[in-house]
Amino acid sequence: MTKILVTGGAGYIGSHACKVLAREGYTPIVFDNISTGWEEAVKFGPLEKGDLLDRARLDEVFAKHKPDAIMHFAALSQVGESMQVPGWYWRSNVLGAVNLCEAAVEAGCAKFIFSSTCATYGDQDGVVLDENSLQMPINAYGASKRAIEDILANFGETFELKHVIFRYFNVAGGDEAAEIGEFHRPETHLIPIVLDAVDGKRDKLTIYGTDYDTPDGTCIRDYVHVMDLVEAHVLGLKWLEAGKDSRAFNLGTGSGFSVREVMNAAGQVTNRPVPYEEGDRRPGDATRLVSGSSRAIDELGWKPRRSTMPQMIEDAWRWHQTGHYEK
Ligand code: UFG
Repeated sequence: MTKILVTGGAGYIGSHACKVLAREGYTPIVFDNISTGWEEAVKFGPLEKGDLLDRARLDEVFAKHKPDAIMHFAALSQVGESMQVPGWYWRSNVLGAVNLCEAAVEAGCAKFIFSSTCATYGDQDGVVLDENSLQMPINAYGASKRAIEDILANFGETFELKHVIFRYFNVAGGDEAAEIGEFHRPETHLIPIVLDAVDGKRDKLTIYGTDYDTPDGTCIRDYVHVMDLVEAHVLGLKWLEAGKDSRAFNLGTGSGFSVREVMNAAGQVTNRPVPYEEGDRRPGDATRLVSGSSRAIDELGWKPRRSTMPQMIEDAWRWHQTGHYEK
């Protein structure tokens, strides 16, 4: 069976990718240092513990498994944190990716799927964000991901290494069977925090900024269901398997939801109040991030099926109620 090296496969998005890869007949080999992921989430193939900054360990795993392709999810990924400790983001994300690219080239693994972000576009309110938009990140997280996109382009010119870059908008929801789901410690993402507030795991949600230039004053994001997102990755893999050229794709729905709209939707799905307070802006947050592209649909044949706000909250809520990895 075709083996895929999944870095960060113990994390939220990576574990969902492994589930879909296994379903599609691939063997996901998880490479993860379990710093922000969960061993319990590795259910669909072997786990190789290791850190991307440890080149010798990476070489060992490439030699042992001889993967045909890489899906690279492992990264520090919190916008707010990246503004406080930018050095962590440059070191971990960028140096980690350099090691991974070099190890891949030396092992003759020529297909690379990369988890990038709409945070590479920065704060361009009023501009339709498609794959040709300028990339002007306003936080260290987005800047580190843009740097990795440059590294991939450069390696692609020099070596046999083709890539597909996916620029995610805001990923939400979870596996329909609630076998895996979103769980970070500490949690910083809006929907899990709203659900924590709904069921009393935290006192309340703080809305980060109510004075943005949006209809209700709160930031607007484009939310995409994690299962739809990882299905696009399999299509990206098939794209490279078909011998096509390196390409970047936005993964979003084109619809924006404000923080208050997400809270209201969560109140409706759970049928409970969402306790909240209004707070200051969080440094590094863009006003509005909404995808303006259908390239993934047109070129990859991507068909998002679960990316409606009620569905994403319903799936996240089902997982939330399992008590997940807290047990
Ligand atoms: N928010 C709050 N209160 C909270 C948490 C979040 O008001 O307690 C707001 C944020 O300010 C932002 C929105 O909810 O306006 C979404 O915030 P998230 O932290 O859930 O997501 P981000 O948009 O900051 O970032 C996420 C991922 C990144 C990814 C990015 C793409 O963390 O990895 O989406 O937009 F790159």
